[in-house]
Amino acid sequence: MQVYALALEKGGVGKTCLAVNLAAAFARLSLRVLLIDLDAQSHATHWLGGTGATIRPEDSFLGLLNGRSILDCVRETEEGVTLLPAHPALASVPVQLASAPNSGLFVLQDAIARVNQPQPQFDIIIFDLAPARGPVLATALAAATRCIAPVQPEDLVLRALQALMDSVSQAQRVNPKLQGVSIVRNRYAARSAGDQVYDNLLRTSYQQQLLKTVIPVRAALRDSAGLQQSIFRYNGPDANEVRNLFLDLVDELITLDGGS
Ligand SMILES: Nc1ncnc2c1ncn2[C@@H]1O[C@H](COP(=O)(O)OP(=O)(O)OP(=O)(O)O)[C@@H](O)[C@H]1O
Ligand SMILES: [Mg+2]
Repeated sequence: MQVYALALEKGGVGKTCLAVNLAAAFARLSLRVLLIDLDAQSHATHWLGGTGATIRPEDSFLGLLNGRSILDCVRETEEGVTLLPAHPALASVPVQLASAPNSGLFVLQDAIARVNQPQPQFDIIIFDLAPARGPVLATALAAATRCIAPVQPEDLVLRALQALMDSVSQAQRVNPKLQGVSIVRNRYAARSAGDQVYDNLLRTSYQQQLLKTVIPVRAALRDSAGLQQSIFRYNGPDANEVRNLFLDLVDELITLDGGS
């Protein structure tokens, strides 16, 4: 079982877009996929068709924090992806984690261990994280096997990437299964001279971590979100090209980690 944490403190880089479409891509390969939405903004939940009114705070990570099991909280989606939804009340999680045993560091790791007994229920688990460092990221990294960071060639994004590398190094002290960070160039166009400076920096400083597949800006990704469809259900222009890119990304991850 692989556990991928989509993370970067910089907002709007494509964490949710990658979380949803990677989840859908793995599901197309008949793998059992669980997406856990850890962001109070609930964007992944919405994208996967979750509607606010049917989701209670206890169906979200807050339920896990209060001892519920993953299987008590999840719902199935039209993408073939199982969803543990977010709720706006997740905004209180950092405070609640602070008063939990070990600052709640092992809540996700323990919940996943329980869902694996007696048999693993999922092949792939994906966390969609808010653009923040702090206790929720630490709890996610304590349970993850790999962190995935979407980036663009910009100074602030690369600074956030360095901060994420530090968070991952810290998390590896408590979680030996955490392999490190893989970087995905998303919404990527290194056109101006300024962009190329950061593009070169990325290639030289993070050569080992950089995945080969590059996702360009494509309206299909934005438009499919509006229709609450992954790129695999969306039928507009460019959908085929983008689907193939997500399948390439999945291939790269399977080569790194194995599929289950
Ligand atoms: N490759 C792409 N082409 C076009 N639009 C994209 C692409 N990737 C993401 N987007 C769009 O850009 C916006 C921001 O992406 P997304 O919500 O995935 O970022 P995020 O990192 O999850 O943001 P936050 O930090 O707020 O959670 C969304 O409207 C999304 O649909
Ligand atoms: Mg997001």
